Amino acid sequence: MISGPTNTANPATKYVSFLYALTLLVLLSAFFWTDNSDAANVFKGGELYMEYCEDCHGANGEGVPGVPDFTRQAVLMRPDPELIKVIKEGKGAMPGYEGIIRRQELLDLVAYLRTLQ
Ligand code: HEC
Repeated sequence: MISGPTNTANPATKYVSFLYALTLLVLLSAFFWTDNSDAANVFKGGELYMEYCEDCHGANGEGVPGVPDFTRQAVLMRPDPELIKVIKEGKGAMPGYEGIIRRQELLDLVAYLRTLQ
């Protein structure tokens, strides 16, 4: 019986496994990057709303007297950047949240406001 060299130490085989490992790593990191994308997170927005906005704007967005009612369509019928500007700078009796709520969180918040009805 003739026994040839075993394949385990073959440099080509090693190289191919290295490529497989590398491909897997690239695919996995692509998956995690996608997961952390900039898409607004309505759930996170809801948590921020409870923390910072609910006292004046009410749990359902109807607001205490003198505060705009988010359940009335016209109040939020403006582009996100305009709403974000008001939330950052404040308006009338409403305080500004610049430096308190981060950019991504502002997007989350506005996405949440748009779910109130
Ligand atoms: C102290 C009470 C108070 C808090 C807290 C508050 N608001 Fe307001 N908010 C107001 C009042 C009052 C107005 C109306 C301002 C005006 O038009 O003079 C208003 C208006 C708004 C408007 C409409 C702005 C416009 O131009 O019509 C948005 C959007 C808004 N608030 C979002 C938020 C969000 C999001 C939070 C939490 C991060 C928040 N508010 C926290 C009192 C508050």
